[in-house]
Amino acid sequence: MASRSSTGGYDPSGIDLDAWTVLEAELEATIPHYDRVNRLMTFGQDRRWRASVAAHAEPGMSVLEVGCGPGSFAETIRGVDLTCLDPSPEMLRVARKRVDAARSAHGEAPAAYVEALAESIPLPDASFDRVFCLFSFRDFQDKKKGLEEILRVLKPGGRLVICDAGKGSWLHGFAGRMWMGTVVQWMARRVTGTRDHPWRGLARSYTHYGTNRYYRRMLRDVGFTSVRGRLLWPFLMASRFVGERPN
Ligand SMILES: C[S@@+](CC[C@H](N)C(=O)[O-])C[C@H]1O[C@@H](n2cnc3c(N)ncnc32)[C@H](O)[C@@H]1O
Repeated sequence: MASRSSTGGYDPSGIDLDAWTVLEAELEATIPHYDRVNRLMTFGQDRRWRASVAAHAEPGMSVLEVGCGPGSFAETIRGVDLTCLDPSPEMLRVARKRVDAARSAHGEAPAAYVEALAESIPLPDASFDRVFCLFSFRDFQDKKKGLEEILRVLKPGGRLVICDAGKGSWLHGFAGRMWMGTVVQWMARRVTGTRDHPWRGLARSYTHYGTNRYYRRMLRDVGFTSVRGRLLWPFLMASRFVGERPN
């Protein structure tokens, strides 16, 4: 692997531990304002993107969300046997409260919660029909290793769906960086009421994130089939990838 010293520990394949530790603290600091800033910076499209991911699950399926954060997606998915994984105990604490309240209101059993990294999932092989990653893949320390682990815990014929900030090409990524570096910073400042808000770090993770082509290739290299991945219309600032574990 080439040195990441000139990029503060980031490249499209992953993030060095020191830089990741800083990023993780920034992610935890977003919790009180996370949903509101997301809604504003995506003009409300994040709800539609979450629903489009949830639509990949059928009733009764076993579903793992990797990088569940404060539960913004997990509290919305219905009718599945749900496991939420995140390395942050604080994210899991907030998620558990929200997600189990929503599940209980719909007469569903609590979800399971696992404190772990995507790169080392402490769950048996072939356990899940679906694995979903929403706005967490960009934060993996080692994206290839995370995908290998996800492939391992998927049942044969099972499916991974990733939704994250998107880069159609490096040129498009430049436009995205402008957006993240200006409008998103301004919105985060307004919502949090401080210049010193954690979205500065999130912009950094987008800067060094790879293109759709790069991750489609990584998914295939790891062993996923029926791989596809594209920008989501009409906003074009997020991408959705789909890949399946061969039967
Ligand atoms: C922006 S939040 C995503 C929240 C949620 N999934 C949603 O729908 O908005 C990103 C989450 O990814 C988690 N994360 C960071 N690195 C990770 C890794 N290596 N493996 C799994 N999750 C990770 C963070 O702790 C954080 O909770």
